[in-house]
Amino acid sequence: MTPKFPIARGRRLRRTTAIRKMVQETKLAPDDFILPLFVCPGNKVRTEVGSMPGVYRLSVDELVKEAKEAEKLGVGGVMLFGLPPSKDEAGSGAWAEDGIVQQGFRALKQETKNLVLFADTCLCEYTSHGHCGVIERRKDGGRDIVDVQNDPTLAILAKTAVSQAKSGADVIAPSDMMDGRVGAIRAALDEHGFAHVPILSYAAKYASAFYGPFRDAADSAPEAGSDRRAYQMDPANAREALREIELDLAEGADAIMVKPALSYLDIIAKARERFDVPIAAYHVSGEYAAIMAAAKNGWLDRDRAMMEALISIRRAGADWILTYFAKEASKLL
Ligand code: PBG
Repeated sequence: MTPKFPIARGRRLRRTTAIRKMVQETKLAPDDFILPLFVCPGNKVRTEVGSMPGVYRLSVDELVKEAKEAEKLGVGGVMLFGLPPSKDEAGSGAWAEDGIVQQGFRALKQETKNLVLFADTCLCEYTSHGHCGVIERRKDGGRDIVDVQNDPTLAILAKTAVSQAKSGADVIAPSDMMDGRVGAIRAALDEHGFAHVPILSYAAKYASAFYGPFRDAADSAPEAGSDRRAYQMDPANAREALREIELDLAEGADAIMVKPALSYLDIIAKARERFDVPIAAYHVSGEYAAIMAAAKNGWLDRDRAMMEALISIRRAGADWILTYFAKEASKLL
């Protein structure tokens, strides 16, 4: 019998689970994942973040438990964010010797073996005004201006990175978006004996509405009347992202990040084509919260939506995925 469709058809390779598995082009593995964790003061504290079911603010003892669970599931690394006992105008909790993430890193270095410990290096969780750098308040005629000062912020970020490395961070990940911070941090790390510590730069970080739940969790929203659009990127821009990445690599970044992930898959794909360094993508709080909220209403199948989101990020070209789903996805894998 002459076949009606003599030309090979894609569906032949979709017939069974076994065949589908063999033709699967992109795969996820637990060690692609980095789990973001929020550390807070106290003992036995495990407070769920309202807008992020399944995500907690953890005191150091609980942080260790959570990290160990992730490690057991094969998760590649964790990224620490701090909720300091108090905030001030300068953000001094960021580099304090016994600062909250510094305590966290020391404990995790003792208690875990295989997890890569990433430090988010920024000031916004520690400043009373919630900005990622040093601010200057000015009047421009009748207008009140809050100006985030680029160069004065660099030395503070460098000091913060050194204190994080000292306390046990394996990778420094600056997320502030100041110009020149990768170079400043690299020089400071080298000078203090941490030439071996790599930098993962949040190179293409957009001013996104999808950070909402994170700012809830870390209490880090910029003060009323201001936003981060003077330093984070405009969602309309793609070429600019490649330029940002290029500059950070020139300053010594070892790996780069695109953030958020799903609305920026084109940026991940472009970066993958252009650069040969490891690329991370941050599946951010709002992306997590959206899936969780819809699933709670019975509008989405959580597991399928989660895996589809994560595989898409990987398919676009990300090597590492920062995701609050790291544990849950690893369980399914
Ligand atoms: C700090 C920082 C933010 C996130 C990671 N690092 C928040 C921001 O820029 O406001 C967001 C992560 C998330 O939404 O999951 N600068």
